Amino acid sequence: MKSPAKPFLIAQISDLHIKARGALSYRVVDTARHLRECIAHIKGLKQRPDIVVATGDLTDFGRPEEYGLLRELLGELDLPLYMIPGNHDERANLRAAFPEHAYLRQHPEFVQYVIEEWPLRIVALDTVIPGESGGVLCEKRLGWLAQQLRERPDRPTLVLMHHPPFRTLIGHMDDIGLANAPSFKAVLVNHPHVQAVLCGHLHRSIETVWRGIFMSTSPSPAHQVALDLSADGPSCFMMEPPAIRLHAWSAEDGWLSHTSYIGKFDGPYPFHDEGGLID
Ligand SMILES: [Fe+2]
Repeated sequence: MKSPAKPFLIAQISDLHIKARGALSYRVVDTARHLRECIAHIKGLKQRPDIVVATGDLTDFGRPEEYGLLRELLGELDLPLYMIPGNHDERANLRAAFPEHAYLRQHPEFVQYVIEEWPLRIVALDTVIPGESGGVLCEKRLGWLAQQLRERPDRPTLVLMHHPPFRTLIGHMDDIGLANAPSFKAVLVNHPHVQAVLCGHLHRSIETVWRGIFMSTSPSPAHQVALDLSADGPSCFMMEPPAIRLHAWSAEDGWLSHTSYIGKFDGPYPFHDEGGLID
């Protein structure tokens, strides 16, 4: 039997919320320690990802000193890395901290860019409204997206954006979601070569399928948004197990997505011994 083609592997990290050295996020979470553990986790995966994508909220308040520490921590990652901003980021400070990441400056105004060199063409979007928690894709940004998607209909494409274009039922997060998701979807509907839309913001693994397109959010390597599907639940987080997503794509099999938990766990234990399935 012919062995299947090796899938393209994408490790997704999101919502790192790095603060200045020694400071705790919300006075509770040591996000720098969590990112160190996350990077060690990625480096220890049995299969080495082809790329890493970081889908926003890279820092907690978008300050230069936070990006300074982020840069130092990410320096341990020995894989191609693509970052986008979230509502906790600041475009100019992000660009200034990573001068060698030229893609951050592809668009003069927004941190939107296209990466051509992988089996999946990456189209990254900037949903940030400075000073606000919710996101939007204005006419300019949507026009840019439509143009990029029109240019290469022959190329399977991955879209990255911080604010997800779907309701999650976590009320306080949907309240600060993407303001104009229907406009975004109206662009996508003409472009069946889009394979997936990977997002952050929710600090949880959430998936949906919209017109055959896989859409998901990522857990955080630090703190997670509490699972509460009420419209008016409190805005709070839980120290549930930190995680990354490991996505696999191939032209033959399409999209597949795993959640990989960061931490020390018992095992591995075998299912079988010399007598067969262990009873
Ligand atoms: Fe976040």
